[in-house]
Amino acid sequence: MRRAGVALALGVLLALVASPAPAAPPPDTCATCHLDTGDERLAQPAKDFRDDIHAAKGFGCVACHGGDSKEEGMEAMDPKKGYIGKPGTRQIPALCGRCHADAQFMKQYNPSLRVDQRAEYATSVHGRRLAGVGDLKVATCISCHSAHAIRPPSDPKSSVHALKVAETCGRCHGDAKYMGAYKIPTDQLEKYKTSVHWRAMFEKGDLSAPTCNDCHGNHGAAPPGISWVGNVCGQCHAVQADLFKRSVHAPVFAQMGNPGCATCHGNHDVSEAGDTLLGLGDKAACAACHTAEDAGGKSATEMRAAIGGLSADWEKARALLLRAEHAGMEVSQPQFDLNGAKDALVKARAAVHSFRTEAVKKEVEPGLAIAAKAYARGVRALEELAFRRKGLAVSVIVILALIAGILLKIRAVDRRQQLGAPGH
Ligand code: HEC
Ligand code: HEC
Ligand code: HEC
Ligand code: HEC
Ligand code: HEC
Ligand code: HEC
Ligand code: HEC
Ligand code: HEC
Ligand code: HEC
Repeated sequence: MRRAGVALALGVLLALVASPAPAAPPPDTCATCHLDTGDERLAQPAKDFRDDIHAAKGFGCVACHGGDSKEEGMEAMDPKKGYIGKPGTRQIPALCGRCHADAQFMKQYNPSLRVDQRAEYATSVHGRRLAGVGDLKVATCISCHSAHAIRPPSDPKSSVHALKVAETCGRCHGDAKYMGAYKIPTDQLEKYKTSVHWRAMFEKGDLSAPTCNDCHGNHGAAPPGISWVGNVCGQCHAVQADLFKRSVHAPVFAQMGNPGCATCHGNHDVSEAGDTLLGLGDKAACAACHTAEDAGGKSATEMRAAIGGLSADWEKARALLLRAEHAGMEVSQPQFDLNGAKDALVKARAAVHSFRTEAVKKEVEPGLAIAAKAYARGVRALEELAFRRKGLAVSVIVILALIAGILLKIRAVDRRQQLGAPGH
């Protein structure tokens, strides 16, 4: 009886120990001792690591540093137990890559996660300089991700979240002193902050607008090659990129060493495009290479005139219909139809990227017809209004005349009654 009881108790105990259910985290003497040292340099990593994605996935300090996290003394950090100490900058890609480049291993955790970060990094200017000339100032995995506060990019607190990337890259690239030894500008962040892309992302909250890594790649950070730049902008501006690729400029720009889209729009400080960019005026992109005498310059002027004409007609029709609406006329149908002219305008502006006057005119013409029709209906609405007002004035006069007539009549009747009344 007693033996059975002991056996049962033992059984329960064993079951509890063996059961993975309340998975108590393995005792991590590394973190415990480091937190107790009272030395910021040793304790801070352990504090930060609490919110690290690797801690959340059940990894401890040994995952990167090696050693034995069951030893309570300094022998936990015995090199014989695989302890590597503080990894050097040149070791880091291999350290992180040990897991992240191992598809088999990573699949157990997250089959959809890419495993090419280390390979991509090796092709970047950062990776090539680190491996090639031992340049320790370039970015390694931890410059962008941190060492102990690593979070998935989707986490708003992550150093690589869409809203944080620019500052993360800018920490080095915006620091003229740090980058002093290199021959590249340090104005990318500053310029980016003036761009239509930055405004779309930070003011409109449109996370589909590009930040540094959308144009440079997450891990392949390289100066984009000439053919590559069009592809980069084209990820999002597909219509313009497609037209540009087939245009007269694509091959000649490549020959001249001009970076495609960026030749006219810039790269970090891309601003809103407008009709002033087209033609041969002060702010026109075309004027940099064309004159009023050459075929390109003539074409630029014609395109500008065509788009300007549609733009003006659309605006005129819109203003007229608005006036009619304010006067109380029903013009919602022509107002709706006028959207067709606006669409044509958008298409014509995109068609500029074919750099053929004909292609632009083909989009402009139907727009002009729509705008003219809408304008005519606005004119008719206002004529009708004038007609109704005239009609109203005539009826008011007639009514007033009638009332006057009736009043006169009543007066005459009254007087007659008074004259003919007896008793005076
Ligand atoms: C008993 C306390 C204790 C334990 C347990 C402990 N450490 Fe340490 N650790 C220290 C102290 C103290 C230092 C500073 C030693 C020095 O400067 O030489 C240190 C230094 C380090 C450093 C920095 C080395 C450098 O070169 O700057 C790393 C990394 C580290 N420990 C990781 C670990 C890991 C991983 C474990 C567990 C396997 C661990 N520690 C366990 C106390 C401990
Ligand atoms: C994902 C890998 C990874 C994990 C996990 C990790 N570390 Fe580190 N740790 C690093 C790297 C990389 C460095 C080098 C940082 C640098 O060069 O700035 C480092 C540096 C350190 C240093 C030296 C700090 C200094 O400023 O000199 C200490 C101490 C340390 N780690 C302790 C720990 C402790 C304790 C844990 C567990 C709580 C831990 N690390 C977990 C990657 C890791
Ligand atoms: C011991 C293996 C291992 C090492 C070493 C390691 N990682 Fe990880 N890492 C993982 C696993 C597993 C995940 C979780 C993947 C998941 O579930 O999404 C992860 C997640 C991440 C994530 C978040 C990915 C996402 O989108 O969810 C980043 C970023 C990351 N690691 C960067 C690093 C960096 C930088 C280093 C080197 C300092 C490093 N890792 C070292 C195994 C490792
Ligand atoms: C120049 C900065 C930079 C460097 C260096 C860098 N990363 Fe990243 N990493 C990023 C950015 C930015 C993202 C976020 C991409 C996104 O928005 O999805 C990212 C995403 C990740 C992810 C999530 C999955 C993915 O690929 O999108 C992992 C894992 C990762 N990096 C690991 C690494 C490893 C390992 C290294 C070193 C070999 C490294 N990173 C070097 C900037 C960097
Ligand atoms: C730790 C500092 C550091 C961080 C963080 C960093 N970089 Fe770099 N980057 C460098 C250094 C140093 C070079 C080498 C410059 C050179 O050789 O001209 C470089 C080179 C580059 C180049 C090539 C420039 C050229 O024309 O040679 C690009 C592009 C680049 N980085 C983009 C990025 C992007 C995008 C990010 C963020 C996702 C980033 N960098 C984060 C330090 C950094
Ligand atoms: C809209 C796309 C785009 C964005 C966003 C972008 N870049 Fe660039 N970047 C480019 C292009 C294109 C070039 C190549 C310019 C050339 O060849 O004339 C370039 C060049 C560079 C260079 C090489 C030196 C130079 O200035 O020509 C660095 C470094 C760089 N970018 C860093 C960054 C950083 C850091 C950010 C974020 C603050 C960023 N870029 C955002 C497209 C972009
Ligand atoms: C030769 C100069 C030039 C080149 C190269 C160029 N653009 Fe444009 N882009 C313009 C002009 C001019 C406008 C303004 C048209 C207008 O508003 O009348 C414009 C307008 C735009 C607009 C906004 C108007 C719209 O709806 O189309 C976008 C977006 C755009 N370009 C993207 C690109 C992309 C992406 C590339 C590369 C594939 C590129 N551009 C190459 C000159 C150029
Ligand atoms: C990741 C997607 C993405 C990439 C890559 C990208 N853009 Fe944009 N672009 C946008 C978004 C989103 C807007 C903002 C639209 C808005 O809200 O007005 C925009 C706006 C613009 C505008 C202003 C359009 C207007 O209506 O006036 C121009 C010009 C432009 N981008 C050119 C470029 C060029 C040139 C490149 C490459 C160097 C590029 N973009 C790369 C997404 C992108
Ligand atoms: C970086 C210089 C450069 C810029 C900027 C530029 N072009 Fe060109 N363009 C050329 C070159 C070079 C050629 C081919 C040689 C030639 O025919 O003049 C060309 C050819 C053309 C042609 C074909 C001419 C023909 O022979 O039929 C047209 C049309 C044209 N460009 C229009 C434009 C317009 C419109 C703009 C402004 C939105 C513009 N270009 C901006 C350099 C440029």
